[in-house]
Amino acid sequence: MSKQTQTTRKTVKDIAAAKGATPLVMLTAYDAPTAAILDPHCDILLVGDSLGMVVHGLPSTVGVTMEMMILHGQAVMRGSQSAMVVVDMPFGSYETNADQAFLNAVRIMKETGCQAIKIESGAYAAGQIAHLVERGIPVMGHIGLRPQAIHVDGGFRAKGRTDGERDRVIAEARAAADAGAFCIVIEGVAEDLAAEISAEVSCPTIGIGASAACDGQVLVTQDMLGLFDWTPKFVRRYADLRAAIDAAAAEYAADVRARRFPGTAETYSLRKQGA
Ligand code: KIV
Repeated sequence: MSKQTQTTRKTVKDIAAAKGATPLVMLTAYDAPTAAILDPHCDILLVGDSLGMVVHGLPSTVGVTMEMMILHGQAVMRGSQSAMVVVDMPFGSYETNADQAFLNAVRIMKETGCQAIKIESGAYAAGQIAHLVERGIPVMGHIGLRPQAIHVDGGFRAKGRTDGERDRVIAEARAAADAGAFCIVIEGVAEDLAAEISAEVSCPTIGIGASAACDGQVLVTQDMLGLFDWTPKFVRRYADLRAAIDAAAAEYAADVRARRFPGTAETYSLRKQGA
């Protein structure tokens, strides 16, 4: 293997070593230029199925397809070079049984070149996770609020607030960890539950709306960049890109209408003979 083809990306071992150490940094990415900007700052880039909502304008992640995940996964791989790239398995691509999960995970890994896949792992998914890991596919679990289950839950609601729900989330965490997940996303749970799970499982946990008690954090990039009017309580906005894009578009429109754009600096002219 030539030096150029050797990977310099973060590996599953690097991620595992972060347990209880410096918190892991993960952001979502869906296209090559954004991935290139985020890559130096992140341990993991997640091609999340949230792309259905934040890129394609779908009402939930339920309508996301394998083809969408693969197309965006390929773009993020092209744009990044050091972060581990994890691609979400979309709703309906892994729940039937371990064989279905394996064939679709293999397709995602072969067609994108990503290092791992993520599945929203209810306790039932332990069989799928173990099957994939035994066959060489690193799996990130995703427990607590599982957006693909929105129609069972009746909306995006925080989890683990009753004793029954708390037990269910703990069971999901144990199932994913025991089955060999290298990392677990915990979404939308109270701090004490996130702390209990993070202390119990040996793999790193990455929180979204799950407090600082996790071993790392993830946000949807469009949310933290301020592209939407509304964001959940747990999002901190690090920029106001919606206002910046709005102002830029308004200025461009005014310049075009007033014939201020394009100007001479943006206009080609004839080359002088012999130049
Ligand atoms: O799809 C996604 O962006 C995710 C994050 C919310 C973790 O799964």
